[in-house]
Order: sequence, then C-alpha cells, then structure tokens
Amino acid sequence: MKQAGLSVREDAVGNIYGRWDGSEQGLPVVATGSHIDAIPFSGKYDGVVGVLGAIEAINVLRRSGFQPKRPLEVIMFTSEEPTRFGISCLGSRLLAGSETLVNTLKKAADAQNVSFFDAATSAGYNLGPDDLSNLVLEEGSYSAFVELHIEQGPLLEEEGLSIGIVTAIAAPASIKVEFEGNGGHAGAVLMPKRNDAGLAAAELALAVERHVLESGSIDTVGTVGILELHPGAINSIPSKSHIEIDIRDIDEKRRNGVIEKVHQSAINIAKNRGVTLSEFNIINQDPPASSDKAVIDAMEFATKQLNLSHKFMISRAYHDSLFMARKSPMGMIFIPCYKGYSHKPEEYASTEDISNGVKVLALTLAKLSLE
Ligand code: GLV
Ligand code: MN
Ligand code: MN
Repeated sequence: MKQAGLSVREDAVGNIYGRWDGSEQGLPVVATGSHIDAIPFSGKYDGVVGVLGAIEAINVLRRSGFQPKRPLEVIMFTSEEPTRFGISCLGSRLLAGSETLVNTLKKAADAQNVSFFDAATSAGYNLGPDDLSNLVLEEGSYSAFVELHIEQGPLLEEEGLSIGIVTAIAAPASIKVEFEGNGGHAGAVLMPKRNDAGLAAAELALAVERHVLESGSIDTVGTVGILELHPGAINSIPSKSHIEIDIRDIDEKRRNGVIEKVHQSAINIAKNRGVTLSEFNIINQDPPASSDKAVIDAMEFATKQLNLSHKFMISRAYHDSLFMARKSPMGMIFIPCYKGYSHKPEEYASTEDISNGVKVLALTLAKLSLE
C-alpha cells in the first residue's frame, strides 16, 4: 500500500486501510478490499485477489494520471475466515457494529483455550475495553464499497464468461453443538448400556443433511465441517462430542426454518440416546445482503467499456461485503476460478482473469469516485 503511494493506517483490531485523498475535501470514501487470511489447507486466491488486486487497481489509476474526486481507499480486513475463534468476518463485523459480537469476544477462546484478548496482546494489539465498540463506522462515511473476489463456484468458467456482477450475498449461519455421555470401555460396556456422545453427533450430522434436503430448494446448503470426539481413543466410547454446523440459503426465512429443525433434532437425539445436549449455540445467523443499484450500474458500465462478457449472479459464499453493506452501498466483482474450486489447495485463477477483474475494479472505482 505504501509503494502504491497510499497513506496507511491500522485500526485497533488489525484492519489495514490505505487512503488516496480525493481532490475535494470532506466527501465520503469509495473503498475496495478483501482479506488475506485463510482456512486450513486452503487455496491462495480466496481474498488475496481482492487485496492485491485492489492495490494494483490503484496503481493502474495512478499510472493513467487519474485524479479521484472522492477519496479512494483499500481495506485489508482482519480474520475473514472463522478459523481460530469460530467467528467469520471479524474485522468487517466490528466495522458494521455489533455489541453482541463485542460481548462474545470478551468470552471467546481458541482450541488451545487462549482468550481472544490474550491472542491479540501476543500479536501486538493491546485492546482496551472500549476499542472494539469504537470501531463502528460512522453512517455515510463510505459512499461505495466494491470487493473483487474469485467466484468460488463453477458458473463463469462453465459459461465462458469473464466477469460476474454480484447482486446479492446469501445468508450464512453457524452453530456449535456439544453432547455429553457416559463414555467407558469399548469392550466392557455392552451396547444397551451405552450413552455414546459420538453417535449423537454422527446422527445430528445426518439430520443436518436431511433437513437441508427437506427444504426442497437447491439454494439451501448445510455442512458439518468439524466433528471432534473426546477422549479420541479407539478403545474408548466417546464421552463428549463437539460439532460445528454451517447452514446457508439465499432465503433467510427458509434457512432459519432449517436451523429450528436441526435444534429440535439435537434435543430428540440427546433424549433418545440418554446423552446431554450441553451446548446448542448459534454463533451467527446473518441476514443476506443486496448490492446497491448505483454500484451495480458502475460495475456493468466498466465491464461493457472493457468489452468483457458478464452475467449477474448471487454469491453463495459470504464476504466482508456482507457486513460493509450495512454501512455503505456495496457491490462485488467475481472472476472465474478453475473448476469452481475453492477452500481447497487446488484453487486457481488465471493471470488473465485476475487482470480482467482488476481492470473492471479500477474503472468502477474511477467512476464511483467522480460521482
Ligand atoms: C467464506 O470463506 C465462506 O465460507 O463463505
Ligand atoms: Mn474463504
Ligand atoms: Mn474470501
């Protein structure tokens, strides 16, 4: 960001901002950006394209002699992935303002039981009690936010299109569940005497799939990506299990209906198996977000100027844009990625596709910054 001539600042939680001042003082900011953190065994394009691409878009505009009227800003959001503390889009969620999240973070700890505040201190961030609440963006301080991202799905590649213009982001939710049973010796405790917390988790994982399919819509998706058994020995009946469930839909009400069914199943499974449902914690249950008409128009204008093929599409993945949309008119630019692969090491986007995305981003920012 410094090399691109931006003035750089970092906020209390580690979101990093690079600003290019506009020619007129006091106008709201046009921003772009994404994240560079990743899930375990991930690819290297998810998020990164939207940060390096944003800096390159600024370079392109500078090289062409462009002067923005409104300030242009690149934001690199902290902790978009829920990898360490189980909370997605931590940086942008705090910018959107969430007292519930601030209270959750006061109690949050990672898998090694390191608290969020201790982890922040050891990373060099000394967070005071009000620092997290003070991050919330002032209404009207941003006039547009645009995020460049790989599609993370196969449509653009399959249809041979260069650019996806995102019209809405689907509604994500995540849930943590724990069952506790009696455990015991794998040889000595006979089957009728067992209260197996592991089987309760397995049964709930299958119930998630069943309830998702029952919705009858291809847009409802559910995943159990974490399933841990305690004590984790082949010859010990699991006395505790921990599962984390991700449920999403473009229809918030339908998604919430699935969550209710999953909760009811967790209660019934616990009862039938004689185990305790010691936790059913909905970590987040976010509404969907719609892109802003003026931002969509600017993205479409840029795509047409560059003679690139495009389609309008929904983002099934979540992004920092989901939260920036609460404070700013929002839009997203998608580029194709190989076979739609994402959240796995095979993730790939070609230089040509990235370069198309950067050009569309640069032109979109230019247009929005002059309005
Ligand atoms: C983002 O990483 C998502 O899980 O959609
Ligand atoms: Mn991701
Ligand atoms: Mn991402």
